[in-house]
Amino acid sequence: MHTQTVALTGATGYIASHVVVALAEQGYNLVGFDNLSNSSAAVVERLEQLIDGPFAFHKVDIRDTATIAEALQQHQVDAVIHLAGLKAVGESVDDPLRYYDNNVAGSLSLLTAMRDACVNQLVFSSSATVYDPDQPSPLTETSQLGPINPYGRTKYVVERLIDDVAATSDLRAINLRYFNPVGAHPSGLIGEDPVGTPNNLMPFIMQVASGQRDELSIFGNDYDTPDGTCIRDYIHVTDLANGHVAALNALATVTTSEAINLGTGTGTSVLDVLRAAEQAVDRPIPTRVVERRAGDGAVSFADPALAADRLNWQADLTVAQACVDHWRWQRQNPTGYPDLSG
Ligand SMILES: NC(=O)c1ccc[n+]([C@@H]2O[C@H](COP(=O)([O-])OP(=O)(O)OC[C@H]3O[C@@H](n4cnc5c(N)ncnc54)[C@H](O)[C@@H]3O)[C@@H](O)[C@H]2O)c1
Repeated sequence: MHTQTVALTGATGYIASHVVVALAEQGYNLVGFDNLSNSSAAVVERLEQLIDGPFAFHKVDIRDTATIAEALQQHQVDAVIHLAGLKAVGESVDDPLRYYDNNVAGSLSLLTAMRDACVNQLVFSSSATVYDPDQPSPLTETSQLGPINPYGRTKYVVERLIDDVAATSDLRAINLRYFNPVGAHPSGLIGEDPVGTPNNLMPFIMQVASGQRDELSIFGNDYDTPDGTCIRDYIHVTDLANGHVAALNALATVTTSEAINLGTGTGTSVLDVLRAAEQAVDRPIPTRVVERRAGDGAVSFADPALAADRLNWQADLTVAQACVDHWRWQRQNPTGYPDLSG
C-alpha cells in the first residue's frame, strides 16, 4: 500500500476516471482537478461508489495557476498525472487557438503551479498522434515525430516543454504516448461519454448498436491493408489505467524525462473491431463506407517493448473484452452520465 498523494488533472474524464480506480486499489491518496468542460460532475459520485469512500475533487481550470498551486500544497501532493486536455482532432483544426490555449498554456500553468508547490513528479497524457503518420509500424519511441494536426502538435509541444523543464530542474517526468483507448470499467459505472457525434470508433459503433445512430461511417475501405480499412492499436482502458500506476512507480528510476508508448503491439482493423462488437452486442451493426478522413494513416500500432522494460507493464485485455465492457456501460447508461447541471 502507498501513502503517496497523487493529483489528477482532467480527473472526471474518460481515462482519468479509470486511473482513479486503479490508483485507489493500490492505496494512493487522491485529489482530482477538472473544469468539467468535457465531463460530468456525476463522475465524482460514481467514483466514490467504486472506491468506496470520498474523492477529493476541485472544480478548477488548470490555467488557474494560483488555485492549482494552493490545492497541491493543501493536499501535500507528491505526484501529478496530467490528463486534462481537449482531444478532438477536427475541432483543433477549426480552432487552433483554443487548443493551444487549453493544452499548451494549460500545461505551462500546471508546471508553474507544480514548481511553486514543490511537486516534482509528473506523468503526462501524450498521444501516438505525435508520430509522423508515414512512419512504419510498429512505432517505437525513437520513430520520427511529426504530428500533422494542431491537436497532435499541442501534445508534441507539451512533451518538449516537459523535457526542457526536467532538464534544468528537479522535475522527473514520463510522457505516456497512448494509442487508442477503448472499453469501460467492468462495473458499467464509468465509461466514455462523448458529447455530440463521437470522434472515436468504439463509442460510434455502440451508439449504432443501441439505436441512437442509424449506421457506422467507415472512413475509407481502400487503404493498403488486408481488408482495406485502417488499422489501429486498441488498448483497453483498464490496461491503460494500470499503465499509469506502473509509470508512477517507475518515476523513482527516472532522472529527467522519458517518452513511453502505451499500446498492445497488435493492430486491429475497423472491420475486425466491428465484428468483435457485433459478437458482444449480438446483433448486426449497419455500416456505410464514406470518404477517407484527412490525416488518417493506413496503419498505426505500438512497439510496447519499452513499456515492458521500463514500466514492467503490458496490456492483457482484448478488443473483444473491450467491446463487452463498453456495451455493458452503454446499456446501463444509454444517454451517458445523468445531467447534474440543472
Ligand atoms: N481518448 C483518446 O483517444 C486519447 C488518446 C491519446 C491521448 N489522449 C489524451 O488523454 C487525456 C484524457 O483523454 P480522455 O479521453 O479521458 O478525454 P476526456 O475529454 O474524457 O477527459 C479530459 C478531461 O479534461 C478536462 N479538461 C479539459 N481542459 C481542462 C482545463 N483547462 N482545466 C481542467 N480540466 C480540463 C475535461 O473536462 C475532461 O474531463 C487527454 O489529454 C487526451 O488528449 C486521449
